[in-house]
Amino acid sequence: MVNTAVLVSGGGTNLQALLDAQAAGSLPHVQIKLVVASNPNAYALQRAAAAGVETAVCSARDYDTPAARDEALCRLLQNHGIGLVVLAGYLSMIGPKVLAAYPDKIVNIHPSLIPSFCGAGYYGLRVHEAALAKGVKITGATVHLVNENYDEGRILAQKAVAVQDGDTPETLQRRVMEQAEWIILPQAVEALAQQLEQT
Ligand code: GRF
Repeated sequence: MVNTAVLVSGGGTNLQALLDAQAAGSLPHVQIKLVVASNPNAYALQRAAAAGVETAVCSARDYDTPAARDEALCRLLQNHGIGLVVLAGYLSMIGPKVLAAYPDKIVNIHPSLIPSFCGAGYYGLRVHEAALAKGVKITGATVHLVNENYDEGRILAQKAVAVQDGDTPETLQRRVMEQAEWIILPQAVEALAQQLEQT
């Protein structure tokens, strides 16, 4: 099993999908050991606690510089023996120390079909607002490896979702979560963990 940390910032529905998949036995190569939130108010922390998973907060407000925060997060992950990092609704950039410590071992879930509607400024509802403004008929979600540039790492999985007449950003976000994110993230994390165990 690969000790896995899940980094969160908000509601934690993707974390919940991972926790539920683990409880259902669908993640045989994954052990979610730690949930780290970028802010202490993230509801995702309550989801982790309810599942008995250790939590921590690593907020920019607690560090004088991004480098100090990067160092602290890297130390936290390594002290917990983490081998795989999942960004699940995590809104901070990953710093160079964490990236160097976890090469091709950090995955992110993005709520569009990359390369559409991604990069700096495209997160949460803004992604779906842009998709609706463009008038696309198909959107979806992408799981990709994380590198030093937003949303540019190798794509691991994608799933398409139809845009429906009358969709609002909120109804589209919910459908993309239900029909894509919550399905492909657990699958991609399990597949990567299995590969890591074999290397
Ligand atoms: C989701 O749309 C996810 O794709 C994006 O952040 C949003 C909230 O995710 N990365 P969660 O409910 O906190 O998992």
